[in-house]
Amino acid sequence: MEWTQEQRYRKLEDVKDEEIQGLAKLVNHCPWRQSFHIQPITGLLNDPNGFAYYNGEYHLFYQWFPLGPVHGLKHWYHTKSKDLVHWENVGMAIEPTNEYDSHGAYSGSGIEHDGQLFLLYTGNSRDENWNRHPYQCLAVMNQDGEITKMDVPVIRDVPSGYTDHFRDPKVWKQGEEFFTVIGAQRENETGCAVLYQSTNLQDWQFAGEIKTNLDHFGYMWECPDYFEMEEQGVFIFSPQGLEAVGNHYQNIYQSGYVIGRQLDLVTKEFIHGPFHELDRGFDFYAPQTMQDPNGRRILVGWMGLPEIDYPTDKNGWAHCLTLPRKLSIKEGKIIQKPVEELTLLRGEKTESDKVVNNESIAFKGFEGEVYELLAEFSASNAEEFGIELRVGENERTVIKYNTVEKKIIFDRTYSGVSFAEEFGSIRKCDLDSETVTFQIFVDASSVEVFVNDGKEVFTGRIFPGKESRGINFFSHGGQTNVKAVKWEVAV
Ligand code: FRU
Repeated sequence: MEWTQEQRYRKLEDVKDEEIQGLAKLVNHCPWRQSFHIQPITGLLNDPNGFAYYNGEYHLFYQWFPLGPVHGLKHWYHTKSKDLVHWENVGMAIEPTNEYDSHGAYSGSGIEHDGQLFLLYTGNSRDENWNRHPYQCLAVMNQDGEITKMDVPVIRDVPSGYTDHFRDPKVWKQGEEFFTVIGAQRENETGCAVLYQSTNLQDWQFAGEIKTNLDHFGYMWECPDYFEMEEQGVFIFSPQGLEAVGNHYQNIYQSGYVIGRQLDLVTKEFIHGPFHELDRGFDFYAPQTMQDPNGRRILVGWMGLPEIDYPTDKNGWAHCLTLPRKLSIKEGKIIQKPVEELTLLRGEKTESDKVVNNESIAFKGFEGEVYELLAEFSASNAEEFGIELRVGENERTVIKYNTVEKKIIFDRTYSGVSFAEEFGSIRKCDLDSETVTFQIFVDASSVEVFVNDGKEVFTGRIFPGKESRGINFFSHGGQTNVKAVKWEVAV
């Protein structure tokens, strides 16, 4: 179905309850509803927003268009959790209601201040000629969870030298001062990020552009995020417009980071190393991080990408968020591990330890639709070894290691209903290792693979049949030791 501009920008108050109920019914009949991922009750989810620990709970908001699987009038939806695993749908958080966010309450971030949670976001407005004007707006949530929008924006204008692609403020506190990075596009149509500072979160001064060595690196940087960890500066952003190079930048848009010295808040100089992608799979974009009370830096991403149709569209919804990942730094790169709390999901356990020799075999008790799987491959003289999961008559999703190419390969060519085929159905990434471990979280329509304790991550949506439940372990061109543990997911 083609959505008209009018349909995309309808106000929720003009929509009849029956329409929403009808949509919810369609959504609930979808065979690919997830069981332990954050997903929208109806419509489309995109970026995680306002991720924060406040008042004894984790709060995680997301971009939401309630009325269908398209990018229309964006709202903020609110979820919360005590353990980062079991999330409660709280409901609507920020509705676009005024001239400043008339065409969407776009992405932003959260920070606690004076006992309240401050939510800084981009108000996307358009005039009658469809010219965009972005405002940076503020909403405040109190201890009772009530959210109040400020009447006027806190940053009204785009500084000169930049276009109207100016959005996604990520706020943090350093000393007594607040800072925010905002994703921007220069007038020469190259992407960058700028910095603002404030003492009270209401009055913001433009501090200048962050000086990186990536002056010509895509045409727009969305969802920037800056933080310090292990005495280094980490800058995460989602650049649009990078050309694919080898096995890199294969998705429509990218999402990655640079690590360097701490950002010089006076000169705005950021001295850093090379850009690395955060996820080597298919469906990952616009991540956001937060620091929790234990000092952990935790990242959640959007398990989806803009401008791509997904098989759930016909069921009236699209996308979910990734599982939370704990970040650390090793040898100049970010290591991402699923947060420890995810072990709370572990139910019935099945184990096996075998030598697999020139074959692809099913281990007793290993099968399923939704589970966690940990597999360690060692002492291999094979050319290739790995796992096939969600295996059915004509379906399988493959994650493997090629010892000759020294590459991890994630193949969703035969995963089920295909989509986004113009971007290919195989992803590869270099890894030089004798022993290879895959920690895999399989939900009804997604796979997240953490390779070698978080050295690389591959995320992908898949849309197999319900009856495709097989798991095979294989080793070709030689033999490999396989130690595997599978847990049912107990939600
Ligand atoms: C990234 C993004 C942001 C914007 C939001 C709108 O996916 O385009 O730049 O704020 O989505 O939903």
